[in-house]
Amino acid sequence: MPSILPPLKIRNFTLQYPIIQGGMGVGISWDSLAGAVARAGCGGTVSSAGTGYWNTDNIRLINGRPLKPINFNNSPNLMDIIRSAKEKSQGNGAVGVNILCALTDYERQVKDAIKAGAQYIISGAGLPLRLPEFASGSDVALIPIVSSARVVDLLCKRWKRSGRLPDAIVLEGPKSGGHQGYTYEQCFKSEYQLEKVTPAVLEACRNWGNIPLIVAGGVWDKKDIERFLDMGASGVQMATRFIGTHECDASPVFKQVLINARKQDIRLLKSPVGYPARGVITTPLMQRVRAGVRPKIPCISNCVTPCDHGKESNKVGYCIADSLGDACNGVVDSGLFFSGSNGYRLTKLQSVQELVEKLAGVREDTDIWEEDESYTEKMEDLGPQQSASL
Ligand SMILES: Cc1cc2nc3c(=O)[nH]c(=O)nc-3n(C[C@H](O)[C@H](O)[C@H](O)COP(=O)(O)O)c2cc1C
Repeated sequence: MPSILPPLKIRNFTLQYPIIQGGMGVGISWDSLAGAVARAGCGGTVSSAGTGYWNTDNIRLINGRPLKPINFNNSPNLMDIIRSAKEKSQGNGAVGVNILCALTDYERQVKDAIKAGAQYIISGAGLPLRLPEFASGSDVALIPIVSSARVVDLLCKRWKRSGRLPDAIVLEGPKSGGHQGYTYEQCFKSEYQLEKVTPAVLEACRNWGNIPLIVAGGVWDKKDIERFLDMGASGVQMATRFIGTHECDASPVFKQVLINARKQDIRLLKSPVGYPARGVITTPLMQRVRAGVRPKIPCISNCVTPCDHGKESNKVGYCIADSLGDACNGVVDSGLFFSGSNGYRLTKLQSVQELVEKLAGVREDTDIWEEDESYTEKMEDLGPQQSASL
């Protein structure tokens, strides 16, 4: 049997294995997945985006969409999800929350997450410059997502003024699912790939007092994890592979879309959030968007600041909140299905415990996936992307 992975200590908790399950917005990582991952000895991350879809009993809906941020990112639902995930964890691992900086009501969600007992907050899609201020007085671990050493320096300088430094840092490379921290063009360049960026970010983390570095984006199996641990990372964040579990909160339709996807079906696409995003491009919605169909889109949820009340949705051709909400509800025609570039490797569902044991080296990884060497993603002209150079 191969060696078992080492533990990961962050602030005031220790994970049995150095694996954090990445937050997946609008219904993919809620209490069921995060609770099961924590129970298996890892970090289980609830996503705070779109919690209005979790239980719509007390949610004000217009045309089936949560009205305004207060319903889309609903406080009571988020707090119930966190409490439920902690209960499911049975005291193992840790339960945290992913909160996107771009969400219109970021500060409220940070405070709700802390009140409900989140053990860590992971925050990206923008720079979480004010996170320590919003979390002041609490012992929650603060973990920003970065794309470069420059961002580590910038954040640490700023956070130091509030008397705190990051408790760990997540570096996300361009094979990640969902929104990217790079421009469309950068995502294709070799110097922006995770392996290339890692050494400089590691050095910045060392310079700021050995902040543990957690790498993300395309990490699939134990070999991948060990490769990054050997480089000096303290852990990994993985999302796409956890979609192939029974406990993942995504609808069975979402899981099947990924199981059916081929390598060439998962690519970067344009998003009203202003960053390129990675997902399945062969679904009916994305086919319409790529064909230039631009219906008039009402803004009901007002989810993210950069979209500017639906201005960007109308330019790009779809609403991010509505499309992710439809994917969450299993509506293939209008849903947007995010995936990391390895999503085509998913072939079946298994339990979180089984998957974690395979990743950690406790049991043999017998999963079979087909590598497709015949296809490599190339730059296509998607039109001007807003830059995400930080
Ligand atoms: C379906 C899906 C939804 C995601 N949603 C979010 C999100 O809401 N916030 C975020 O910071 N990252 C999000 N991510 C990124 C993941 O948390 C993670 O860092 C990344 O996907 C890791 O790469 P991997 O999927 O190849 O393991 C999402 C990823 C996927 C696949």
